[in-house]
Amino acid sequence: MRTVRTVAELRAELATSRRAGLTIGLVPTMGAFHEGHLSLMRRARTQCEVVVVSLFVNPAQFNDTADLERYPRDERHDAQLAADVGVDYLFAPSPAEVYPPGFATTVSVRGLTETLEGRHRGSRHFDGVTTVVTKLLNMVGPDVAYFGRKDAQQALVIGRLVRDLDMPVRIEVCPTVRDRDGLALSSRNAALRDADREAALSLSRALHAVQEAVAAGERDPDAARRRGWEELQTAEVEPDYLELVSADSLAPVQRIDGDVLAVVAGRVGATRLIDNTLIHVLPAAAASTGNGRP
Ligand code: PAJ
Repeated sequence: MRTVRTVAELRAELATSRRAGLTIGLVPTMGAFHEGHLSLMRRARTQCEVVVVSLFVNPAQFNDTADLERYPRDERHDAQLAADVGVDYLFAPSPAEVYPPGFATTVSVRGLTETLEGRHRGSRHFDGVTTVVTKLLNMVGPDVAYFGRKDAQQALVIGRLVRDLDMPVRIEVCPTVRDRDGLALSSRNAALRDADREAALSLSRALHAVQEAVAAGERDPDAARRRGWEELQTAEVEPDYLELVSADSLAPVQRIDGDVLAVVAGRVGATRLIDNTLIHVLPAAAASTGNGRP
């Protein structure tokens, strides 16, 4: 695996592969790799001939400088993990390489970004994400780019970005990787103290409770949500949100039908965690007539 620091070097390295018609996969990351990141890299490795992983802690998407400074960084260890998975290039540019003096452009997706994470982290968060992802896609020019469903809103926003700007790349969204106890893997989990871990589990438990309620026939989002709230309350976690939203538009649903995302976010100690699960319910008409059943 080669570590590359500049866009010029990256383009020079990839030019031969591109001319030879090899498929290029990109996994954008901010480092501190865990199995979630590695699962994206493995997926890319099985589907693409050349795999590029970008490692850039993007200042533009942090709304809090203390959070940016606290963000875990260990490039040497990350490089080892990526090499073990068979990644070809680790693209790890400096902030000045990505945002040179005079940088003045923002790529902004409206509609999907004002709610949930956008509401809690501020509008600049998703602008930071969509701007850096646009740049990374332009720098690498991949055929496929891989994102995790763990950040469901981010994946949806990037899907819209690529569609709206006719970017010639396929976005592949990969399943959330969890610890055995259900906690969704996150670079931020390392900051959880032992005592916090039990509380952190209430997020996935809350989603599970919502899912169970729906499986038992609940179709009223408020009633299903209350089941989730109980789990959070037991763990004394005050969520930023626990909502059932349309998996396409992220608008709150009036009734649980079709593809619904249960999304949750909250602070455990000093660490803010998010999680979600996709709930699929057969549309009412199909369910009552038995149509559409597998
Ligand atoms: P980062 O938080 O490092 O995540 C990189 C990718 O890993 C994202 O697509 C994220 O959804 C995915 N991921 C994180 N935890 C996961 C898990 N438990 N299971 C599966 N996938 C997981 O997301 C970002 O970086 C940045 O916003 C970025 C897109 C790189 C732009 O700066």
